[in-house]
Amino acid sequence: MLATSRLDLADPGFIADPYPALAALRAQADLAWHEPTGRWLATTHAAVGATLRHRSLGRIWSDLEPAERFEPFSALHRNQMMENEPPAHTRLRRLVAGAFARGHVERLRPRVQELATDLLDRVSGDDVDVLAAYAEPLPVAVIAELLGVPASDRGQLRDWSQRIVAMYEHGRTLEVEQAAITASEEFSGYVRALVTARQGDLGDDLVSDLIRARDGDGRLSSDELVASVVLLLNAGHEASVNVFGNGLVALLRHPGQLRRVVSGEVPVEVALEEMIRFDAPLQLFERTATAEVEVAGVEVAAGQKVAALMGSANRDAAVFPDADGFDAGREPNPHVGFGMGLHFCLGAPLARMELAVSVAELLRRFPRLALAEEPEQRPTFVLRGYRTIRLDLRGAA
Ligand code: HEM
Repeated sequence: MLATSRLDLADPGFIADPYPALAALRAQADLAWHEPTGRWLATTHAAVGATLRHRSLGRIWSDLEPAERFEPFSALHRNQMMENEPPAHTRLRRLVAGAFARGHVERLRPRVQELATDLLDRVSGDDVDVLAAYAEPLPVAVIAELLGVPASDRGQLRDWSQRIVAMYEHGRTLEVEQAAITASEEFSGYVRALVTARQGDLGDDLVSDLIRARDGDGRLSSDELVASVVLLLNAGHEASVNVFGNGLVALLRHPGQLRRVVSGEVPVEVALEEMIRFDAPLQLFERTATAEVEVAGVEVAAGQKVAALMGSANRDAAVFPDADGFDAGREPNPHVGFGMGLHFCLGAPLARMELAVSVAELLRRFPRLALAEEPEQRPTFVLRGYRTIRLDLRGAA
């Protein structure tokens, strides 16, 4: 029988803690028809995996309407790898893949360590918002340095990115739309100016590499160049900030698990996979059927959309023993936090290295850290995270 759901993805109670409602949905069906948005919801680990891997379920971009009004926003999406399927996806991804390969990323480790140390050196007083002081500036600096964005311009990046990603949530207002359109215009304008300034003086940064690809054998158009840079700057920090925040709050709420990491019993590399699984920073990614397909025994018609609920898949008891428990040493940990299939996160090796360095350095310097007050959540579901996390760095004795 067809399972249907009326779950309100914008309900504040659901956003505060989506996991009980997602568990109820999983118990109902692997794939449920979501009446309010007219698309399927993939709820279990198996159904999410099948959705993300199926070659006839793709990321198919359609420009928002009215097209003219949304053009600055649509252009940034239409022209980048994440919103395309092969062959465009393959071409766009290949141009930058080398820079994010494990070997290349490992060479950045000393610099990331230096940035982490400097940021913590600057923390004054015992009470600090760890997101603003540490978790945000670190990945922004790393991805900006990789691309060759001057330090003086980096302050703007987070704001543009936040206004653009607000569009991925449900129930957006006209105000959110306008803010995203303006941010897209400003961000594209900034990148175009950066490219113009850089093209006479190419270096070993990624923007220079992309300019070479555009001007060399024409593998990249000017619009694709701009969209690629914006994608990397946004994707290169948004999820990392929220993994750090969501994971740190989970650790602090499970003091026994925190002690296992602080003492070194559990390597930070292992713990951070559980930080990603337990409270996923990206809860939903959508695919569109390009032909009739079957997912978890349900027929999906050509043109229909399937939303993969990644946070739900990560709590599936069929795959994770004690799925609602936080086990810092959980191994194996086949979470889907970085996605699966063709669009598997390009930045996963970089994200893992940055998080390992930043979490380890924070715990080494402040092994007694504790929450100073209840952290403030963002009112969003698709990108799940906190607005502020105030810490008492010296903590309880
Ligand atoms: C812990 C932090 C991160 C998480 C949890 C994360 C998660 C994800 C997920 C789930 C996807 C797949 C989207 C889909 O299937 O539709 C993705 C794609 C992507 N991520 Fe990440 N990401 C993180 C950090 C990064 C970083 C640091 C970069 C740096 C460049 C990055 C760049 C990308 C890019 C370019 C894509 C698109 C790949 C494609 O379409 O082929 N991500 N990420």
